[in-house]
Amino acid sequence: MAKKQPLNIVKMKKYKQDGIPLSMITAYDYPTALLAEEAGIDIILVGDSLGNVVLGYNSTLPVTIDDMVYHTRSVVRGAENTFIVADMPFMTYHGSIDETLKGVRRLMQEGHAHAVKMEGGVEIADTVKAVVQAGVPVLGHIGLTPQSVNQIGGYRIQGKDAADAKRLMDEAKALEAAGAFGIVLELVTEEVAAAISKELSIPTIGIGAGRGCDGQVLVFHDVVQYASPYTPKRFVKTYGDVGSLIRSSIAAYVKEVKDRSFPAEEHVFNAADGVLDELYGQRKEKVEIR
Ligand code: KIV
Repeated sequence: MAKKQPLNIVKMKKYKQDGIPLSMITAYDYPTALLAEEAGIDIILVGDSLGNVVLGYNSTLPVTIDDMVYHTRSVVRGAENTFIVADMPFMTYHGSIDETLKGVRRLMQEGHAHAVKMEGGVEIADTVKAVVQAGVPVLGHIGLTPQSVNQIGGYRIQGKDAADAKRLMDEAKALEAAGAFGIVLELVTEEVAAAISKELSIPTIGIGAGRGCDGQVLVFHDVVQYASPYTPKRFVKTYGDVGSLIRSSIAAYVKEVKDRSFPAEEHVFNAADGVLDELYGQRKEKVEIR
């Protein structure tokens, strides 16, 4: 079978023009990336949500550039033919441009990502521009931006009133003007997300932002219920229950070890005839195997 060609940012824009929705999911390791690629996903996001769902923190703030490089590399090894975006972690793109480019370089050269994602609007537009000018595709992220959760005052829906709608529209336009190839809209009211998507020539990818976006993204652990720490969420649809399957599989394994039904005959290897006689020589003791 011919290898699937990864999407690129030019094709993504064409998808938007042709009305083809983009599918994006997060992944943080080799096996998940492998399965996502086999399932036909368009884009994989190595999100800093790994802080919550993989590393067990209660926010994305402790995630470091080393964490992102490590996880991005393993994802890329599993999904060589998929477009992979890696998150720039908290406070790695708010200092000097040189400092920002160092982090971007690590995600691209050591992590082998195809693009980076940054949270924020007007205030990071110059940074986005500098990164794009350095030749690196940037995916924007506005609305609920988890890295600013302490400033926003919690995980709140964005774009409920006219002033907030205008702010979001201005942020989206600033990112487009800065050269972002797309924008994630997180927890934005459906009407405002649709208006932004209509106004921009670059694709929007929504999470909790309704049906008018040009694509959708969900966190892998939410999609398959893999010990996802925040359940249930209204904007998430779960498509499987891997968590229950894993729990019951491990419980069955524990039970069989305890009652000695595992390993069974079919799981063992046998020595040649006479090996024990040679081992014990004249003692001729029998080794009891249950
Ligand atoms: O880190 C992440 O998983 C994200 C998605 C929620 C878009 O930024």
